Amino acid sequence: MRKKVTIVGAGNTGAATAQVLSAKGNTDVVLMDIVEGLPQGRALDIAQGSPWMDFSSSVNGTNDWTDTATSDVVVVTSGVPRKPGMTREDLLGTNAGIVRSVVSSAVEQSPDTIFVILANPMDAMCHVALAASGFESNRVVGQGGLLDSGRYRAFISMQSGASVRDVNAWVLGGHTEATMVPIVSNAMIGGVPLATVIPQNTIQAIVDRTKRGGAEIVDLIKTGSSVFAPAAALVEMIEAILLDEHRIIPACALLNGQYGISDAYVGVPLRLGASGIEEIYEIDLNDGELKDMQEAGHAVKELVAATPSS
Ligand code: 2OP
Repeated sequence: MRKKVTIVGAGNTGAATAQVLSAKGNTDVVLMDIVEGLPQGRALDIAQGSPWMDFSSSVNGTNDWTDTATSDVVVVTSGVPRKPGMTREDLLGTNAGIVRSVVSSAVEQSPDTIFVILANPMDAMCHVALAASGFESNRVVGQGGLLDSGRYRAFISMQSGASVRDVNAWVLGGHTEATMVPIVSNAMIGGVPLATVIPQNTIQAIVDRTKRGGAEIVDLIKTGSSVFAPAAALVEMIEAILLDEHRIIPACALLNGQYGISDAYVGVPLRLGASGIEEIYEIDLNDGELKDMQEAGHAVKELVAATPSS
């Protein structure tokens, strides 16, 4: 029997994720949304492309939580996206209510699932999902770090002319412009330190652009936010879990003393497999990076404290 993944939210990101995941052919995909017709239409559209995308797994849209039962992974993309001029933090109150309700309904149908959270502000929404699920924290993981690292790697590649495949550079910390921590001290291109390839002032420009990587897209599109990079990064995480790949990636986990941070979801290097977060790694950072990580931890705690409880 194939693995089953539910993607909650049939908006642009949810639909793009469903298509990329379906195209891999390993997984039956359920697209769940409260808007009648939307997930059904999106799923049908994806299924009609199956002859050329070359998959025989199923993709179904639904408004009924019972159709999501026994999902191996539940991805939460639901919630309102940013508009120009808005920060991710501005979405706190609205999206907390949505994420709480979605996670509670999903757990009733799939008590053994693993949650991957994308709804913004992502770090705080991980806390909401953890509380609503009642799960151990290894089964609730947030996406920000992988997406932001994809942006960092893409910008380094564009600037250096080197293949993005050889760029090994991570963004840790929070998934907000103020709290993202693009790590320079251990960034490499094909084993060559980043600072050997790119001058310092250009690296700073890349770091600044990375922090605004999502906002740059919102400013350009005006009526929505990013879709394709989040979908690609989500599928990387989903497959790490479904295929028990033990991938070491940057993603958002509940810390318990690592980096001097406790009780806060922060982006860190972690190992992801069938049981969810298998291990959190503490790597050497320079003093500035470590301080920025700790500030990210404080910021997420402040957001959590400001999150309406119902
Ligand atoms: C982004 O960074 C939507 O949070 C997502 O683009």
